[in-house]
Amino acid sequence: MASNGKYVVIDGNELSFEDGETVLQAAARADIEIPTLCWDPRLSSAGACRMCLVEVEGSRLMQPACSFKATPGMVVRTQTPKVDRNRRFILSLHLADTIADREVAEDNNPSKLHALAEDYGTAGEWTPVVQQRQGRPSDTNPFIEFRPDRCIACSLCTRYCDQVEAVSAITLTARGAHTTISTADSKTLTDSTCELCGGCVDVCPTGAMTEKPALAYGKPERELEKVRSTCNFCGVGCQVDLNVDRDANRVVKVTSPPPGTTLNDGNLCVKGRFANDFIHHTDRLTVPLVRDDDGSFRETTWDDALDRTVAGLKGVAERHGDDSLAFVSSSRCTGEENYLVQKMARAAFRTHNVHQCAAT
Ligand code: FES
Repeated sequence: MASNGKYVVIDGNELSFEDGETVLQAAARADIEIPTLCWDPRLSSAGACRMCLVEVEGSRLMQPACSFKATPGMVVRTQTPKVDRNRRFILSLHLADTIADREVAEDNNPSKLHALAEDYGTAGEWTPVVQQRQGRPSDTNPFIEFRPDRCIACSLCTRYCDQVEAVSAITLTARGAHTTISTADSKTLTDSTCELCGGCVDVCPTGAMTEKPALAYGKPERELEKVRSTCNFCGVGCQVDLNVDRDANRVVKVTSPPPGTTLNDGNLCVKGRFANDFIHHTDRLTVPLVRDDDGSFRETTWDDALDRTVAGLKGVAERHGDDSLAFVSSSRCTGEENYLVQKMARAAFRTHNVHQCAAT
């Protein structure tokens, strides 16, 4: 019996739950896997994809675990022949509504739909009964492309835009099988309230919302290596995954770590997600430079550059006193780097003259 007296029984396991929790949330705490396509922990449930249907004792119809609230004494079964059959049926329906071939579908982003189809199997290959959905005719924004032939109308992107980014730039339009993702008056994203955060790309389970620069690069995400890093655009310290093409030694794109795993909870702004072309810019310094006697710069080693810096700073302190030095750090650095700057100022150069731009 659960300590608060409220429990559901899922697949024979007695599980406690809090008021308002869904069957999916109670099951997740016990590591009972219920597949989902249109659910995200940051968003309200839409119950759109029907992938998470489970059997609930006393209920004639199967219920969506992502939105069905747990109630005391409820008995749920997530692994029965009926549930299994439904999953395969639903997967076949969704695949008929998109590009069925996984290789083609995953030309850029990974597809959760195709991964589930591989895990759970399908009820067969079906052809669509209506013409595939349409999108806006063109969109000149530099970052985000909507590919309607891959969309399953799960509404994750529109809910993210509304509930996390709070701009409601994109919305579901049309009806039935023609339902698609659009903007008010079919404007381009840059003419809408869109902030180009790319959250719609991140939550999309089929790659219908995709990053234009990475698509143009032409290497699917599954062939890139993720390297965890810290965004260097502001002091928040959002965690990012650099998607690296090891063969070319290039950062192809930036994705956000999954929700619930880092402080930014899977979210990024337009700079964090898309402004990464500076990494390989030819103007970027890649080796330290020192000034020669004639005033020109020449390349040198880090040891030499650091020795010269230390000698210069010490010389100023000796001639004018410790407090003639001041150290200014940047919010583009990590918290750890900023800590080291103040430590160096105080411990090595004996001055409290240290500041960081985000502190003002
Ligand atoms: Fe429950 Fe889509 S995940 S209906």
